[in-house]
Amino acid sequence: MPHGYTYQDTLATSEKITWRIEDIIGGEKKLDFTKPFMPESLARTAALGFLSPNEQRVLNQIRGHAYLTIFGLVEEFILPFVLDQTRPQLQGDDHQTRALLNFAGEEAKHIHLFKVFRQEFERGFGHHCDVIGPPEAIAKAVLAHRPLGVALAILHIEWMTQRHYLDSVKDAQELDPQFKSLLKHHWMEEAQHAKLDTLLVEALAAKCTPAEIEEGVGDYLKIGMLIDGGLEAQTKFDLAALQQVTGRRLSESQAREAFEAQRQANRWTYLGSGMTHAGFLATLGAITPAGRKQVEGVAPAFC
Ligand SMILES: [Fe+2]
Ligand SMILES: [Fe+2]
Repeated sequence: MPHGYTYQDTLATSEKITWRIEDIIGGEKKLDFTKPFMPESLARTAALGFLSPNEQRVLNQIRGHAYLTIFGLVEEFILPFVLDQTRPQLQGDDHQTRALLNFAGEEAKHIHLFKVFRQEFERGFGHHCDVIGPPEAIAKAVLAHRPLGVALAILHIEWMTQRHYLDSVKDAQELDPQFKSLLKHHWMEEAQHAKLDTLLVEALAAKCTPAEIEEGVGDYLKIGMLIDGGLEAQTKFDLAALQQVTGRRLSESQAREAFEAQRQANRWTYLGSGMTHAGFLATLGAITPAGRKQVEGVAPAFC
């Protein structure tokens, strides 16, 4: 295996990371609503020149709220999937069992973490923002696909989270420190998940025929389209929230421009940044060079 990932090393790294939710949010640790929450490369609100700086910041914060929601949603299907993959091999390798159970436990912690941040957001923001869901229905729809397709979608999400923090958040000085801390602490644990899910994808692919691998890639793309439909709905919710919170009424052409730009920003944030990640493409290409080509062919529409 050229990547060199092992269950034993990943377990050892994960055991050194010991943050608790109450260490990063709650009490004196409050969100600062005078600052943006999302890095501009993901939010892309500055491109909307007809919005004032204040309106751009409010939209950025609404996108931050959606980020909390969407990560909460995806973790709701990652947790049962990892548990399902772990149970059949409980009598097998001890490092593998413990690493995968840690993976599931961390995702349960992240679901809780994103919920607490959403509560803090709603308290400070003072307005309700609509979100897609419910999480159980989306999880059910995603988990109805073949395991290899779901595992590829999770691999995409794990690498995407790495990219968000390392490329866009780590060196961004202007962000709210609490929101930045959330993304940093999430990334610290997700770094191990990307390795573990690489091992899961390889193990699932090893049991598949070439035709079943192609079907798995097809299912990964179907899950992507499912998420894309959710992002379109979320973009509409976000722009409605912006107008409700600020009292600003966008003209028809402004509303159209804002929708197109924000839908593409959402596509890059949750789809393009994962589909084009080198770690994701390396694993996909190793199990199916044709599948990698197929994904690379559609990726530009999501960047
Ligand atoms: Fe997570
Ligand atoms: Fe994860």
